[in-house]
Amino acid sequence: MKSTEGTAAAKRAAGERAAAAVVDGDTVGLGTGSTAAAAIRALGERVAAGLDVTAVTTSHQSRAVAREAGVPLTDLADTARLDVAIDGADEVALSGAVSGSGGLALDGDETLAASPPLIKGGGAAHTREKIVAGAADRYLVVVDDTKLVGTLSHPVPVAVVPTAAATVERHLQAAGGTPEPRDAARKDGPVVTDDGNLVVDCAFGDVSEPATLAAELSAVPGVVEHGLFVDTTDAVVVGRDGDATLLSVE
Ligand code: A5P
Repeated sequence: MKSTEGTAAAKRAAGERAAAAVVDGDTVGLGTGSTAAAAIRALGERVAAGLDVTAVTTSHQSRAVAREAGVPLTDLADTARLDVAIDGADEVALSGAVSGSGGLALDGDETLAASPPLIKGGGAAHTREKIVAGAADRYLVVVDDTKLVGTLSHPVPVAVVPTAAATVERHLQAAGGTPEPRDAARKDGPVVTDDGNLVVDCAFGDVSEPATLAAELSAVPGVVEHGLFVDTTDAVVVGRDGDATLLSVE
């Protein structure tokens, strides 16, 4: 699994709090990455204690974690609707979501005035994650507090049909981005996603208008899906060492 900044204890706290929100009978979408994995393990503990759920996964990685945790699985291809999805993120932008100018103290649960935009796809699973997010009645994002920012600025992962790599890169440059094809870590050549696509990480500097950029990227021929998630999130569970805070969109 790729390594990210937050501590294991913070991710576990976020994962446990999110797993606690699942109820008997739910069909649950399970995201990819280290924080989603913490939530999947916590859900597995609840299943072992008698919780009755069925889940769909978003990658080979999340399926392996769910199997090991004993979470009953069904196929995403056979699932049109989910009660809840639990997923990680690379960045969560709070500047437009917090009322007032003081920011968040994170010393208790809070209500957000708007759904915070996200950047996802650090693990190249954002295409299936977006499908799952779109199918879920409630989309819960689990992060440690290192993922919270005012404005998004992480390079945006873009999944691309392999034969369109060159043309997509030209479109991304025309949109003001600096595209960089993602190379695999322990394989020569590019990352190939679980769906057989390539990934281009595209830096845009500060993304002050995420909805506008999201629409622009979606319109590029050959782009399968990008990692900007706008107006998708219903709540963010922020883990810190030992506790977790729930930020719910009002
Ligand atoms: C997977 O492609 C991503 O969208 C992950 O959800 C994201 O990279 C967060 O991963 P971590 O929880 O490991 O930081």
